[in-house]
Amino acid sequence: MFTVLNDFNWNTKQETLIIGCFKNLDTKLNGLLENLDEKLNGQLSLLIQEGEIDFNNKSVNSIYTLGRLGPKKLVIVGLGEEENFNQDNARDTFGSVFKSLKGNKDTISILIESFTNKSLDVFNISRIFAEAFSMASYEFTGYKTKNNEEKSNFNEIIVYSELECNKVKSSLETGYIFGQATNSARNLVNIPSNLLTPSDIALYAKGLANQYDMSIEILEKDMLNQMGMGAFLAVNQGSSEPAKMIVIKYQGREDWEEVIGLIGKGVTFDTGGYSVKSKEGIVGMKSDMAGAAAVLGTLEIIGRTRPKQNVLVVIPTTDNLIGPNSFKPDDVITSMCGKTIEVLNTDAEGRLVLADAITYAKRQGAQFIIDVGTLTGGVITALGYEMTGAMTNNGKFFKQVLGASYNSGEPIWRLPITEKDKERVRNSRIADLNNSPGGAGHAIMGGAFLGEFAEETPWVHLDIAGTAVAYKPTDLNALGGTGVMVRTLAFLVNEFSTNVFNEESSMSLIN
Ligand code: BES
Ligand code: MN
Ligand code: ZN
Repeated sequence: MFTVLNDFNWNTKQETLIIGCFKNLDTKLNGLLENLDEKLNGQLSLLIQEGEIDFNNKSVNSIYTLGRLGPKKLVIVGLGEEENFNQDNARDTFGSVFKSLKGNKDTISILIESFTNKSLDVFNISRIFAEAFSMASYEFTGYKTKNNEEKSNFNEIIVYSELECNKVKSSLETGYIFGQATNSARNLVNIPSNLLTPSDIALYAKGLANQYDMSIEILEKDMLNQMGMGAFLAVNQGSSEPAKMIVIKYQGREDWEEVIGLIGKGVTFDTGGYSVKSKEGIVGMKSDMAGAAAVLGTLEIIGRTRPKQNVLVVIPTTDNLIGPNSFKPDDVITSMCGKTIEVLNTDAEGRLVLADAITYAKRQGAQFIIDVGTLTGGVITALGYEMTGAMTNNGKFFKQVLGASYNSGEPIWRLPITEKDKERVRNSRIADLNNSPGGAGHAIMGGAFLGEFAEETPWVHLDIAGTAVAYKPTDLNALGGTGVMVRTLAFLVNEFSTNVFNEESSMSLIN
């Protein structure tokens, strides 16, 4: 996919060449552009004087060289002020470059160093470039019998870099793997529930585990029953598709210790059960397994990059349907850890399936737990569609997750869980907990409920109900599944594996 070369020459024949330019350069040309201007007999400075080239961030200026230079076409990318250029706008910038090249069949080349500044070295930029490239080129082909969309077809991208070609190449490959795994998660989210049942997810997970040499176990209904997973199984009662608990172990260390547990909500379709959703609210509920998709995407990255870290993935998967056997409001169920739950709302099913998964992960040795899922509409009310809601019982662990989220361009925002919030989920006349304490602070109630099962284990809950699906396409996201949290979780696992996670630096990333 990527060829890294260090012998750039303006006369080498190429198709499309991409160059980044900071805004402060528009009065005085730097070495690179000066050189280019000479080659073009001063026409570049002329164009700049005429205001024909926009150096603002994300602007894409195409110039045809009409045979005067090796490259047929130059794409001059405005980067804005050098001191403002950071990871986030680098991602968006590359995203918009690739969007503007959609349908282009040329081989593209890039002068990667022209995108670097003090805070982004060539390796960072290379990773971000390749990641953005794969994310921006994602398309869900869907099920239309006629598909006329033009696809770009970059089989090869030539990256010019003056230093350490091998290291640049491996940064590019890492970024590309991160992007591709994000796209895998997007696909899973976009497939409708009639075509992606719990059994299908289990099959997919098996394929992944086999491909990357990880151990996998699918816990079937009998087993779940035996283990007492009454919370998870209650949600499955109305379904003709059997619930499955998918358990995958990736052992990256000698001993099975310091295990990170990644748990993904895998509700393949959420009708709300007898607390049924409205006809508007129910559309889109095929995406209620986006948490499962996220942890499977993370596993794909782990499989390909093989960090020295133990990871346990647990995916409780079922749909939430209505039938003669469905669980009902007022039911009292017993979770795996023994805590009883009064069901006040069958639509608060995510926390029920995750509760047993958390208990199970702890018993399998998880010493850190992250659960991720589309838990509440309330998180959308609280934080909108840009921020994933985070809740935790451990500030230190949270900071590590926050650092990983920053470095992945997937923002999270912490919501509190106070003692009063805990009291609300513990408030039931007939059981230990209730699953829906009512309107106020919905998202927090989901977190507080799960916290009752995490107990002392350092734990972060990520509510992606607002971020798992894009309703408007952006530079990096097509409509539909975003694959959110795949990269954050993979980054976190990586940080754990290197054991040099710097808390100070991740703190300074918060603004
Ligand atoms: N899957 C939904 C949450 C959701 C809502 C995801 C919108 C994506 C978009 C979840 O199971 C749910 O129904 N949550 C309820 C919780 C309530 C009943 C306590 C909600 O948010 O309304
Ligand atoms: Mn629900
Ligand atoms: Zn749900």
